[in-house]
Amino acid sequence: MPTSKPRVVSFREESKINSPAFDDPSEAGFFVSALPQDPLIQAPNNTFSNQIKTLHLSSDKPLSARPSSKQCALAGIVPMSLAGQCYYSLCNTTGGHVLARSFVRSIRKLGLARKAFTPFDALELKPQALRGLIQLWKRIHWSPGDGMMPVEQLLAIYEYVLRWPGDGDVVELGSWTGLTTCYLATACQQRGNSHVYAVDTFEGTMEFGQTYPSVAGFGGSTYAEFSKRIAQAGHENRVTPLVGRTDHWAGEYPGKPIRVLFIDADHSYEGVRNDFENWHKHVEPGGLIIFHDHNFPGVKRFIDETLRDDPRVSHDPGLIVENVYMVTRTTT
Ligand SMILES: C[S@@+](CC[C@H](N)C(=O)[O-])C[C@H]1O[C@@H](n2cnc3c(N)ncnc32)[C@H](O)[C@@H]1O
Repeated sequence: MPTSKPRVVSFREESKINSPAFDDPSEAGFFVSALPQDPLIQAPNNTFSNQIKTLHLSSDKPLSARPSSKQCALAGIVPMSLAGQCYYSLCNTTGGHVLARSFVRSIRKLGLARKAFTPFDALELKPQALRGLIQLWKRIHWSPGDGMMPVEQLLAIYEYVLRWPGDGDVVELGSWTGLTTCYLATACQQRGNSHVYAVDTFEGTMEFGQTYPSVAGFGGSTYAEFSKRIAQAGHENRVTPLVGRTDHWAGEYPGKPIRVLFIDADHSYEGVRNDFENWHKHVEPGGLIIFHDHNFPGVKRFIDETLRDDPRVSHDPGLIVENVYMVTRTTT
């Protein structure tokens, strides 16, 4: 378990961490994939393949043709440019949306633009979902390195949080610089309910007492960056940061019963197990529990083995896109 005082280690050190969880040398890749978009880390064997499996909640069809996060690195360019602003304004109207979607579908049929511009993929979302994204992207732009999550995973989570029924709040365990928090808050804004609580030490806390090396680039705390981004997105009144450890805040959670719990903090087996055990009781029956980084050995082991036959959850909807696994809280 992490110590209370994080220390900064280099990537080289990280991948050599001596822990019982790393008995299998193949698990050394864990730390490489742990930080796929960390700008300060050169990850030579990044194994993120980011193949989309299904997205089956509100889209008319699975977004199986979505590009991978590496392929869509250009996505950051669109929101930043004037053309991006025009594109969003156009898509914000019903006619423009239909026009842009037909155009993109046609050029994709010709085999063009298949591997770039993730914002195009958002055209497949229903108008309410798209409108929220457009508002968000006009305020903050996504670019590789901004957060730790590939865009197609962000979109899938966004859509589920938008659609999932219930009146409760949304809790994020592990917010880093607030990119995912903005998508959660935008989804809540679009549906017109749910407050978002963002729990994080903001010190780049990591498993086994380590810290993310890149937290040094934020002066040892990502809180200022987090606050800046939340303000940029206009979500100050919808997001409450809970600064501290997840186990501490589980005992002092100030919100309503949880409609969606998003777990993306300590990815060790013990860490994810503790987060589930400490927080599941706050989740309302029928509430959604989302685990990020299902590929990580600790997370995978917890979900596939420990949680497999646990009557407190049903494994539905399951694996939505690579690395994003969702279960539903039962009444047990
Ligand atoms: C993988 S990052 C979160 C990434 C973010 N959800 C995103 O996609 O941009 C993990 C975050 O969890 C926080 N964290 C890890 N273990 C924690 C713990 N036990 N208590 C509080 N925060 C923790 C770290 O400080 C870090 O900011």
